[in-house]
Amino acid sequence: MHAVAFNGSARKDGNTALLLRHVSAELDKEGIRTDMVQLAGKRIRGCTACYKCFANRNRRCAVSGDEVNDCIEKMVAADAILLGSPTYFADVTSEMKALIDRAGMVGRANGDMYRRKVGAAVVAARRGGAIHAFDTMNHFFLIEQMIVPGANYWNIGAGREIGDVEKDEEGVGTMRTLGRNIAWLLKAIRSAGETRQTQESVAEQETSRRTPGSSRNPRRGK
Ligand SMILES: Cc1cc2nc3c(=O)[nH]c(=O)nc-3n(C[C@H](O)[C@H](O)[C@H](O)COP(=O)(O)O)c2cc1C
Repeated sequence: MHAVAFNGSARKDGNTALLLRHVSAELDKEGIRTDMVQLAGKRIRGCTACYKCFANRNRRCAVSGDEVNDCIEKMVAADAILLGSPTYFADVTSEMKALIDRAGMVGRANGDMYRRKVGAAVVAARRGGAIHAFDTMNHFFLIEQMIVPGANYWNIGAGREIGDVEKDEEGVGTMRTLGRNIAWLLKAIRSAGETRQTQESVAEQETSRRTPGSSRNPRRGK
């Protein structure tokens, strides 16, 4: 199992990255790898509302030439998607919003392709507006039919200069709890899937045993 984390900050390795790393450290302890994609400095344009993703249905955004299709591929491959953003004017960064709009529309155009993956949002803020940014990212997960675990507070870390969030003990603790809850949920989902597969295969064997002439009946042809 693995997770992918997108850091929407314009500052590479800033506070948002530090918070995401506290989450991924907990995942790591449970054997779950996290790959981080930092959007800082990358060209990411907004959705052009061409709706070609609905016509093409090829799991790609029709706008090419930037990073978004790579990000979408990483989302599709992962078991958990983390979105992290600093608070900019009480919301996510433009880069994060562009990723949400385009990856989100492609997901919906292709049969809700992130359905039942685990999703979690992480926010850095100096002072205000973090909860709004948090909500923005959760809207993506929820409309994509993803499963969102909580922590012991909303997933917010406080700080302005790079490194300040490390002094926010409660924020760091929240990230650690979140990481543990994501790991727990991923394992629970995997184990539920395995149990269901076993039950389905037992039921299938039972049906074929009771149905003479069934193509799955081992006595067929004797
Ligand atoms: C354009 C801009 C807008 C910001 N707006 C807010 C804001 O509305 N509320 C807030 O608490 N902090 C605001 N900040 C501060 C950042 O959210 C804060 O410094 C955060 O720790 C940066 O995280 P980063 O190091 O990952 O970029 C803003 C910063 C910038 C550059």
